[in-house]
Amino acid sequence: MSNITLTMIKPDAVENGYIGSILNEITNAGFKIKAMKMTQLSVADAQKFYEIHQDKPFFSDLVEFMTSGPIVAAVLEKENAVEDFRKLIGATNPAEAEQGTIRQKYAEQLERNAIHGSDSNENAKIESQFHFSGREVF
Ligand code: CMP
Repeated sequence: MSNITLTMIKPDAVENGYIGSILNEITNAGFKIKAMKMTQLSVADAQKFYEIHQDKPFFSDLVEFMTSGPIVAAVLEKENAVEDFRKLIGATNPAEAEQGTIRQKYAEQLERNAIHGSDSNENAKIESQFHFSGREVF
């Protein structure tokens, strides 16, 4: 499945009331929503999801932030989904994100950067299966 990516609208963007605006940006950019849910990660969930970052100095803050409130997780489909979605959301640090990108418009700072996008086709599959069972993906 090289045409899917996994996104999460993060707790800062949910808290700030940006769910609708961000979903609009996503669908206007040609992504089809294949699965979606509002949920809240447990500490164990966040530690598992971000295990690749477990040795980084920001890991505990990342887990604390990602469990601090509800998120919206979604599987998105489009040709070249991973790369095109990362272009749409912009750089990890919103201060470096290009004009018009989702992070430039809706993110507060590096640690609270509004939205996640998978970084490879392999991780898109792993992350989609983390959030959704087979019968939740349409
Ligand atoms: P994301 O790429 O979605 O997933 C990992 C997150 O770690 C990243 O977004 C940032 O929000 C967060 N983070 C916090 N500090 C850093 C840092 N110094 N470098 C990279 N990511 C960071």
